Amino acid sequence: MNKLIVANWKMYLTLRESVALSKKLLRPTYYPLHTQLVLCPSFVAMEEVKKVLHGTQIKLGAQDVEPEKRGAYTGEVGLDDLKGLGVKYVLIGHSERRKLFNETNALINAKVRAVLGAKTQPILCVGETLQIRKAGDTKKYITEQIRKGLKNVPKKDLKKVVIAYEPIWAISGNKGHADNPEDAARVIAFIKKVILVKNIPVLYGGSITSKNVAQFLTASGIDGLLVGRASTKYSELQKIVTSAARVTE
Ligand code: PGA
Repeated sequence: MNKLIVANWKMYLTLRESVALSKKLLRPTYYPLHTQLVLCPSFVAMEEVKKVLHGTQIKLGAQDVEPEKRGAYTGEVGLDDLKGLGVKYVLIGHSERRKLFNETNALINAKVRAVLGAKTQPILCVGETLQIRKAGDTKKYITEQIRKGLKNVPKKDLKKVVIAYEPIWAISGNKGHADNPEDAARVIAFIKKVILVKNIPVLYGGSITSKNVAQFLTASGIDGLLVGRASTKYSELQKIVTSAARVTE
């Protein structure tokens, strides 16, 4: 299976910077043949980035979505617009959204179901705090996030779900450091058991850089990466994607 590399640009880049980086990624020397790259710019940058990506293998993703179809939801962005932009993947339940915007498992579940209903793929983010990890409760916590996040999702739709395991303490924005690849692979193997549906891709995220990418991509069962800060720099993203292509060649 080709590795899935999802670049989560968060609020790191302006519209202009997002377009410039997308253009650089299309240089002739840059050809992620054996990998699937997905760019998740800010909502404001999506339309221009889509124009740059037109006709290429690089796909467009969104960082979030409003589960309601239309109406009085000030500040929200709905699926009709995302679909109109050709969005293929939507990040849901990122730990920053859970913490800073108080997103609950119930809201996250509504988003997952809305995205699946619109024939788009949700990337459900799960992961524990350092406190939970130290208490030995990682598996219990993640099981609950997955069960509640995927509640009432029909089995046929489960196949379209992607999970991203991102230990909160490992995210660079939290001044974190990457998990050890073997530990991440162990949690990911556990996640695959909890889901019970075969071949659901599970990604790792948290302080991935060009230096540690190969270790994570060769660890068994890690199907791809969700990359934040490093994905906002051309040379880093280029190295990460090249590594992913090499692993799957
Ligand atoms: P990071 O972010 O790569 O900057 O640690 C990953 C994420 O939060 O998705």
